[in-house]
Amino acid sequence: MTSLAFTCPTVRRIGILTGGGDCPGLNAVIRAVVRDALHCGITCVGIEDGYLGLIEGRCRILQQQDVSGILHVGGTILGSNNKSNPARHKVGVDAAGKAIYRDVLDECIGTLEKHGVEALVTIGGDGTHTAAAMFARKGVPVIGVPKTIDNDIEGTEITFGFQSAVATATLALDQVRTTADSHHRAMVVEVMGRNAGWIALHAGVAGAADVILMPEVPFSLEHVYAKVRDRSEAGKRSSLICVSEGAKLQGGQQVVARRVETSPDPIRLGGIGKFLAEKIEDDTGVESRYTILGHTQRGGTPVAADRVLGTLLGAHAMTLLRQGRVGRMVAIQKGQLTDVDLATPAGKQRLVQAEDPLILAARNIGTAFGDGVVM
Ligand code: F6P
Repeated sequence: MTSLAFTCPTVRRIGILTGGGDCPGLNAVIRAVVRDALHCGITCVGIEDGYLGLIEGRCRILQQQDVSGILHVGGTILGSNNKSNPARHKVGVDAAGKAIYRDVLDECIGTLEKHGVEALVTIGGDGTHTAAAMFARKGVPVIGVPKTIDNDIEGTEITFGFQSAVATATLALDQVRTTADSHHRAMVVEVMGRNAGWIALHAGVAGAADVILMPEVPFSLEHVYAKVRDRSEAGKRSSLICVSEGAKLQGGQQVVARRVETSPDPIRLGGIGKFLAEKIEDDTGVESRYTILGHTQRGGTPVAADRVLGTLLGAHAMTLLRQGRVGRMVAIQKGQLTDVDLATPAGKQRLVQAEDPLILAARNIGTAFGDGVVM
């Protein structure tokens, strides 16, 4: 194990990286961390492309001008990577062409020492925090900042990026509604979220979807058809269905779009929207179309709430660092700013509970979840 001389709260130089898939609000966190750090004389070293940049030694000093004018900009000025894992880094292939992996955590710590980095701020999801906790166990003072549009990180009740994704998905539901009404159609909008239905639930409610389908509530086609038919028979011009990419039939499997073998989570979901629209049209006779929102939900300008949340969490990360309270992930719980053990999200996903108040509210106002439950 590399010997470390990291000490807090006297750190003079910190590193910052963004790992995993990007999301709106990352730049708000980077800006908050860098501005707060510079304000108290701490130098910030930006590590490019997540842990990959740390493994490859790609680091640069971030000055005030680097974070100027980025609050409203999507993506991350540092770049990100959702395939690099310092505990399992591909270093070559053997004679049979099989990949050889090695733990390069100590080399990464060597890179931090070479750049004089005394503490690390890691902005990412469960994969990024799992690796961050490994660095913490080796003595590196780390503060994690949770991000993802999926809102599924254990330990915090909200992640920045989520509200921007919901705004994008809601706008899409509003926009397809006009064609649905004009043409007496059922419109299916497929949203992201991995195994969590947060985006589908919130956008579905905000966009007045008639049916919301999410991974936590397996559905049956018959119940979806019943809602579409009931609406047609009641003289409604259209039906709007908001389906999470991870939604699945009762007793069925999620629809996998592809596998990314080099990624810590190789499964990429997608395709349930197409399946659903085709089945609705074939089996009910109601003309149907589908729209897959994909990465439109991860891109573009963050909504104000995500800029605020990113700023709050970034500044809190610096507060913890100054207090020497490291090995923590900043979080929101019961609406309050707090922090939890850095390893909290490792290997977990925060899913929507069946008794979530928003599910109950939606059921009470007649929204169907495809499970036949009627309130
Ligand atoms: O975790 C964020 C997310 O956008 C998920 O909602 C989605 O399933 C996945 O990432 C897509 O990953 P990629 O950008 O690798 O296709």
